[in-house]
Amino acid sequence: MVLAEIAEEVKKCTLCELFRTATNAVPGEGNPEARVMFIGEAPGWHEDKQGKPFVGNSGKFLTELIESAGLERDDVFITNIVKHRPPGNRDPLPDEIAACAGYLERQIAAIDPDVIVTLGRHSMNRYFPGERISKIHGKPKRFGTRLVVPMYHPAAALHNGSLRSTIEDDFKQLPRFLAEQDTERDKRRQEEERPEQGTLF
Ligand code: URA
Repeated sequence: MVLAEIAEEVKKCTLCELFRTATNAVPGEGNPEARVMFIGEAPGWHEDKQGKPFVGNSGKFLTELIESAGLERDDVFITNIVKHRPPGNRDPLPDEIAACAGYLERQIAAIDPDVIVTLGRHSMNRYFPGERISKIHGKPKRFGTRLVVPMYHPAAALHNGSLRSTIEDDFKQLPRFLAEQDTERDKRRQEEERPEQGTLF
């Protein structure tokens, strides 16, 4: 399976220096056929210890948010922009993000999600460089067949009353984005099935 192969490569990765200080790589986990994929920033202390994404306090909150949208954590795929923990939880550096980008691209291609949710600034920058999260959070943008929705990072929203209700409201829109994707897929299918004009005679 492609995702398992990528995970094995990530575990052996030496493309940047982060592997030197990390305990475990955190390739990501979830449904290989997920319709929704979440991209966070980088593993923290708990994730580094367990080799799994979003398992600390912000992970618990993320699970609650996923469930508030009528989904289960097992339905979705969760990963990060950087797969090894930056020491002391510092921000990932641009060359670390660049070194890790190939893994993320291959995970996205393998899963082929309908909706990508970026969590926080660093993963937002991959799709919306130069934008401000306070302005564009919760607003989906189409990239080919996918919708990409920037959202606040759960760790930032967890202890901030107004951001917390903002991220809760943004998550509640997910079913609507999935329904929009169903409609778009039906339209594409109908167009594929329609005979080209002029070929009937
Ligand atoms: N924060 C992240 O961005 N990712 C994790 O996996 C955990 C905390």
